[in-house]
Amino acid sequence: MNQSEEYLLAIESSCDETAAAVITRDMRILSNVVSSQTRLHEKFGGVVPEIASRAHLERILPVIDDALKQAQITLDQLTAVAVATEPGLVGSLLIGLTAAKTLALTLEIPLIAVNHIEGHLFACQMQEDHPLFPAIGLVVSGGHTNLYHCSETLQFDLIGATIDDAAGEAFDKVAKILGLTYPGGPSIQKAAVQGNPKAFPFPRTFIKDPELRFSFSGLKTAVLYEALGNPGAKKQPPPLTEDRIADLAASFQATVVDVLVAKCHQALTQYDYSTLCVGGGVAANALLRERLEAMTTQSGFHLSIAPPDLCTDNAAMAAIAWHHLDQGRIASLDLDVKPGLVR
Ligand code: KG4
Ligand code: ZN
Repeated sequence: MNQSEEYLLAIESSCDETAAAVITRDMRILSNVVSSQTRLHEKFGGVVPEIASRAHLERILPVIDDALKQAQITLDQLTAVAVATEPGLVGSLLIGLTAAKTLALTLEIPLIAVNHIEGHLFACQMQEDHPLFPAIGLVVSGGHTNLYHCSETLQFDLIGATIDDAAGEAFDKVAKILGLTYPGGPSIQKAAVQGNPKAFPFPRTFIKDPELRFSFSGLKTAVLYEALGNPGAKKQPPPLTEDRIADLAASFQATVVDVLVAKCHQALTQYDYSTLCVGGGVAANALLRERLEAMTTQSGFHLSIAPPDLCTDNAAMAAIAWHHLDQGRIASLDLDVKPGLVR
């Protein structure tokens, strides 16, 4: 290992993934350890904040240890420590922040605060060998469905968002309705393989709306009524067989993907941008990736989506901290978490 190399330790604990990564200054990911709490939250069909905080507390030190071991470096070789401080669950964020502060204080290295959302977008830049921005950015995850105008690496302005559920949240809730496992994205994707995406013409809300906005809660209710019946209707739906689940999953997935692709196209056209970068857990979806690829190729846009393991929550995407460091954005030890979405 090169003695003069600079290493960043990045920590991520905003929701239900305890993660740590080591990234060099030239953006090589030496380790990217993610300890998922999926099994702890599965039976509730969503993340339980109290359970998440306790699990982060148990896992944070072993995860940091693993990240250093896999990168084959020791604590004294670290140049800086970065941590996601916003947005997220307050108890979860605090565990990562406390670990990061302790390391910064004891090792006497800079502490850098990172926004989880900018991390999701920056995951795209990490795989490019030329500057990606300016671009239109889509962050599509369990907590967000946001469109951004990204003028440069550290400048992301919100230009569109969901007015109710995030797309990932809809995947999770629909999976629960269909009796599929949590998290809903991967299980719906799997069930949809056998299904007919045209079986149910679900509402594609706002698809033709001139504003850049999304809504997925009506879609979730439409799936609920098809699957389990509408309380106001006399006729009950047929039994929820495996074939019917597959058709409902495929039709739901196709609806979400149609809307996301159309809105990205609209944003690129409205802002006259030629690059689209997409991040967040839902960006791991195979159909979404395929359809975005087709749309951008057809329209002559450049598409950048991080590989699936950098789309779902991870710490490597906090490598944007190198840019903060270059600009002197070093946090003090009274740094606090910001659970709500600030922008
Ligand atoms: O970015 P992420 O890991 O955490 C948040 O910041 O929210 O995103 C998690 C979300 C979950 O709602 C999960 O169901 C969804 O991403 N997801 C997927 C897929 N993999 C994860 N959604 C659709 N298809 C997938 N393959
Ligand atoms: Zn995320």
